[in-house]
Amino acid sequence: MIFRQFCTPDRDISYLLADPVSRYAAVLDPAIGAESDYLETVRRLDLRLIYVVETHLHESHLSAAPALRAETGARLVTHSSVDVDCVDMHVDDGDRLYVGEELLSVVATPGHSSCSLSYLWRDRVFTGHTLLAGETGSCRRSDADAGRLFDSVRERLFALPDETLVYPGRVTDRRRISSIGQEKAANNDLQPQISREQFAKRKQLQAMHSGPWQAGWPANQRCNRPD
Ligand SMILES: [Fe+2]
Repeated sequence: MIFRQFCTPDRDISYLLADPVSRYAAVLDPAIGAESDYLETVRRLDLRLIYVVETHLHESHLSAAPALRAETGARLVTHSSVDVDCVDMHVDDGDRLYVGEELLSVVATPGHSSCSLSYLWRDRVFTGHTLLAGETGSCRRSDADAGRLFDSVRERLFALPDETLVYPGRVTDRRRISSIGQEKAANNDLQPQISREQFAKRKQLQAMHSGPWQAGWPANQRCNRPD
């Protein structure tokens, strides 16, 4: 198994995984400013980057996907609803993505955004901003839906084995990894007894008290080209 976790000073987390035989690699949720880290790792490990995979179109940080795509020829993969012209491949729930012999399974987990996906790989799941360590993603975006987020986490992610490792897209409380069992037992937003309605109200309150809207969203929609 070839696997690396990258973290930016802004606490965005991205990942590189690769098939040790074919040397094909994928990067998940690359953040702008960290391009050289991914490219250096690809070079040092003698890999060939074939996919740049997004869990969703990010509002909180600029994606490096267009730059990596241009530099390496890797195909940019997003949810089927993402209508951005630099996307090469659309996926949706149940689809499979092969990185050489390594299999990524797509799990639709809408809520934080309508285009949010999680990706299952071996004993782990990449959850983007849907499920974080001890928290759930914000519901600030215009297409956010706290009820759907509740359903995605409870019905899809919590249905995975407790031992499944959770690799989120953002650092929370200095944590960069969790497990499904740990989140079922101790997620601050999703105590075992909380109802869908109570959860939605909690997320609404969090959204009201969170900071101003970030600038990454419109730029990502333009593949980071200037206005
Ligand atoms: Fe996000």
